Amino acid sequence: MSESPSPSPLSEQYTINTALLNQHPHELFRRYRPVTPLLRRDDGIYIGIRARDVEALTTDPRTLQLETQIARARGVTDGPLLQFLENTMLLSNGVQHRRRRVPLVWAFAFNSVTALRPQIRALAEHLIDTHYHRGEMDFIADFANWLPARVISAILGVPEVDIPDFTRRVYSLARALSSSFSEADVPHLQKVAGELTAYVRDLLDERRLHPREDFLSSYVAALQVSEQLSPVEALTQIITVLLAGSDTTRGALAIQTSLLLEHREQWDAVCRDSALIPGAVLECLRYEPSVGSFARVTVDDIPLHGTLLPRGHVVSLSTLAAMRDPALYADPDRFDIRRTHARRHLAFGGGVHRCLGETLAKIELEEGLRALTRRLPTLELDGGPAVVQGSGGIRLVKDLRVRWARGAA
Ligand code: HEM
Repeated sequence: MSESPSPSPLSEQYTINTALLNQHPHELFRRYRPVTPLLRRDDGIYIGIRARDVEALTTDPRTLQLETQIARARGVTDGPLLQFLENTMLLSNGVQHRRRRVPLVWAFAFNSVTALRPQIRALAEHLIDTHYHRGEMDFIADFANWLPARVISAILGVPEVDIPDFTRRVYSLARALSSSFSEADVPHLQKVAGELTAYVRDLLDERRLHPREDFLSSYVAALQVSEQLSPVEALTQIITVLLAGSDTTRGALAIQTSLLLEHREQWDAVCRDSALIPGAVLECLRYEPSVGSFARVTVDDIPLHGTLLPRGHVVSLSTLAAMRDPALYADPDRFDIRRTHARRHLAFGGGVHRCLGETLAKIELEEGLRALTRRLPTLELDGGPAVVQGSGGIRLVKDLRVRWARGAA
């Protein structure tokens, strides 16, 4: 980031209509990236659109997590929703953030999660078995919905009978993590936050009374020893993991399937050679990420290439724009599963809030793709490609129907 002695306020010509941006994010970012490091949405939120700035601002001490700023602006002043937003690691800063994140780090570390790969593979194959005879499916409702939900339910030990209700609540409340929720959504989000809080509290109480050999029992035991987290903080981190790992991965599964089927020769290449799977997953996360940005608030003026990012404002760090920046990827608008990616892929953010579930997400995406290409190589779109809405936060992915020739399993 080059600093200028007297940076200029962002010119009015760079204020963007949010609805237009949500419809055509790549086109608008491609147009503006060479001429300005920042855009400003018509709701006043700044957007960082260049790769090097997004990376630098993620760890810049002049930016902080939002805490409850956006929630309060949407009229959330009490209730279980505020309790969640006040206590989640995702929105907290400094020591509080560390305290909340550290007890979970071991559980989501590479070695712990890699041990789950065979189980995740079996879950993905089982989902295909369930629908195979039909020769077609609603990809999101029948497959993408269930792989992350079943994986996280297995990790938490959610009883089979509770999974559908539990999953519905998790997907509903996941909207609270996206700054795009509106005041009208608040009553429903409050209700679901209350239900999930009660459910997770019961799960934790149950493990306290009857410990098992599982993730939640170890979490409860570790918390009892360290006594670092209040009961509300402890259960909020479990809800955070549930929410952060649901819509993100569901969307990414649908996007990757759609993108590969739209680029048929690359789908066929993965069917022939499963060694291409990890690269295909990384390229789909880059080309059309399910999380388009994450937000921070500025606590000081930040000069960016002669333009002022003023203190006290929300800035959306657009990973979606950054991962199509020619400064980061050559020929960025070309979809190519064989390209090389940095070890720390920007789709998962950076700095202290970097995605806790990165390894788990990659394994789910890889095993989902492995099962589909192995069992359904004739898979094709049954209609248009997936519709991806929104330019930032967790994006809404919908409408993906697929079909296959039976007998190919
Ligand atoms: C394709 C799937 C996923 C994507 C693209 C993704 C992306 C991200 C990003 C960009 C952040 C940083 C947010 C910020 O800095 O404000 C993040 C944080 C987080 N993610 Fe993920 N994520 C995915 C899947 C998962 C999964 C499967 C889990 C857990 C099971 C998970 C758990 C978390 C948690 C707990 C945080 C907050 C970390 C903190 O604040 O310290 N994510 N994720």
